[in-house]
Amino acid sequence: MKGQGIGFGKAILFNEHFVVYGIPSIVSAIGQYTRARIEPSPKPQYQLEDLRPATPKYKEDKKDQQIDSLNKMLRKMNIDLSSKGIKIILDGNLVASSGIGASAASCVAVARALSEYYNMKLSDEEINDIAFEGEKGYHGTPSGVDNTASTFGGLIWFQKGEPNVIEKISVSTPVEIVIGNTGKVANTQAAVAGVKDRKEKNAKKYGEIFGRAENITYLARRALEEGDYKEVGKLMNENHRLLQQIEVSSRELDFLVQVAVKCGALGAKLTGGGLGGNIIALTPGKSVQERVANAIEKEGFQTIKTIIGMSHAEVE
Ligand code: MEV
Repeated sequence: MKGQGIGFGKAILFNEHFVVYGIPSIVSAIGQYTRARIEPSPKPQYQLEDLRPATPKYKEDKKDQQIDSLNKMLRKMNIDLSSKGIKIILDGNLVASSGIGASAASCVAVARALSEYYNMKLSDEEINDIAFEGEKGYHGTPSGVDNTASTFGGLIWFQKGEPNVIEKISVSTPVEIVIGNTGKVANTQAAVAGVKDRKEKNAKKYGEIFGRAENITYLARRALEEGDYKEVGKLMNENHRLLQQIEVSSRELDFLVQVAVKCGALGAKLTGGGLGGNIIALTPGKSVQERVANAIEKEGFQTIKTIIGMSHAEVE
């Protein structure tokens, strides 16, 4: 008996953090994925073999959250391992780091692999619900944006609510992006808690920032659908400034954003929880993408070059 599944990494183009409060966001899956495999084990419960490539310290830092997350998913799936245990093996080409959806990708991959192993035949919607439960182990109160991108792939408009609004965004021409990794592992749960705290203390200021973030997403969606990447880039820069104002950026993130924009990116911003982790730069055309990625690498940081605006089947 064997089970296997994958979950995509993701990059948020607009409104991480704001999305936690019901403001719309735009997110893209990326081609890099985490794979989970399930095998029978002679021991009860589960053993975990985490073979994912990762930013140094990422796996150690997330270990407790990972166990909490796995336990939450097993409970949600009513899987009892007290007599027959399993081995969970994680690998794939997504470098586990902060901001790139590594936790969501592994939750989705594990949910899919368990579904196959126990012949549950779960739908994508059910996989997404289970992965959302798993994300609680990492984020505390996740919005659901990461697991949604990781499950369904493609470019997505996501708004948290009852129910969540999940819409595919179609673009006429897929576009190149660069993701730059600060190499700093960050704690999303702490970043989200910090925003909550400051928002309560500075209600008026945060109200204005949140209002602008909301406007930006609608403008960005239209610009994406019209293929107006200059406008998308401008809005990404503005989105980064709003994220700076709610204090989730960092010196390294601001530096990588500056490098990207200086080298010809149409826009750049932090992506994900912030306080470390990754930036995303919009770099239409192979030569701009190459130039921006090289400049970031020359400064000693790792990059991913990928394309957004394709369905995940195409990205694969
Ligand atoms: C993390 O990738 C995105 C956040 O908005 C948290 C969440 O939406 O759950 C910071």
